[in-house]
Amino acid sequence: MSVAPIDYLMSRRSVKFVRAPGPDDAQLAQILQAGMSAPDHGRLRPWRFALIRGAAIERVADLAVNAARTAGMPFTAEKEARTRQWLAEVPLLMGVACRLDHSNTKIPEHERMLATGAAVTQMLNAAHMMGFGAYWSTGLGTYLDEVNEALGFDGLDYRFMGYVAIGTPIQEAPAPERPDYRQFVSEWTGI
Ligand SMILES: Cc1cc2nc3c(=O)[nH]c(=O)nc-3n(C[C@H](O)[C@H](O)[C@H](O)COP(=O)(O)O)c2cc1C
Repeated sequence: MSVAPIDYLMSRRSVKFVRAPGPDDAQLAQILQAGMSAPDHGRLRPWRFALIRGAAIERVADLAVNAARTAGMPFTAEKEARTRQWLAEVPLLMGVACRLDHSNTKIPEHERMLATGAAVTQMLNAAHMMGFGAYWSTGLGTYLDEVNEALGFDGLDYRFMGYVAIGTPIQEAPAPERPDYRQFVSEWTGI
């Protein structure tokens, strides 16, 4: 039985634990291109994506672990082992950043970040529709300057917004319970 696109869209869920194969070049191009359809005030295209693959993924782990320890953040040996074990299987990590472009004073900074987040959502949905698992994380030193700079997104010109892991789901998980939208919606009539 085929699933209607709208039902498939609503079945998206995050999948943290993925392995190879990740998207091939053509599939990755589609995922990234899907991001380009995100709403974007002023067509600033503020989103930036750093593809991290192969040995570079382990380098990100080294960077994040060392930066966290240098910053005095708790990073136990168990947590490090768990993180490295997770990343050892991940075929593709994508660093996500928002370019601030201080020369543009018309569009507020938060709108650029919303556009970047919307681009990521487009990509999460695209990955899901192509049968991949994807997961957005703000771990791995997302909020550490040292990590941001090493990835090419210094805090002056960019806001680093985490990583998206993409690959083949290791386990099929049941779709999570989703809330009823009516909890979050009211009707405003102006009266
Ligand atoms: C900007 C952003 C950052 C996130 N960072 C983390 C994170 O660091 N760790 C985590 O466990 N979940 C994080 N999440 C949540 C997961 O990506 C995911 O949405 C959550 O586990 C719920 O799963 P679902 O997307 O299937 O509802 C983040 C979500 C967003 C939007």
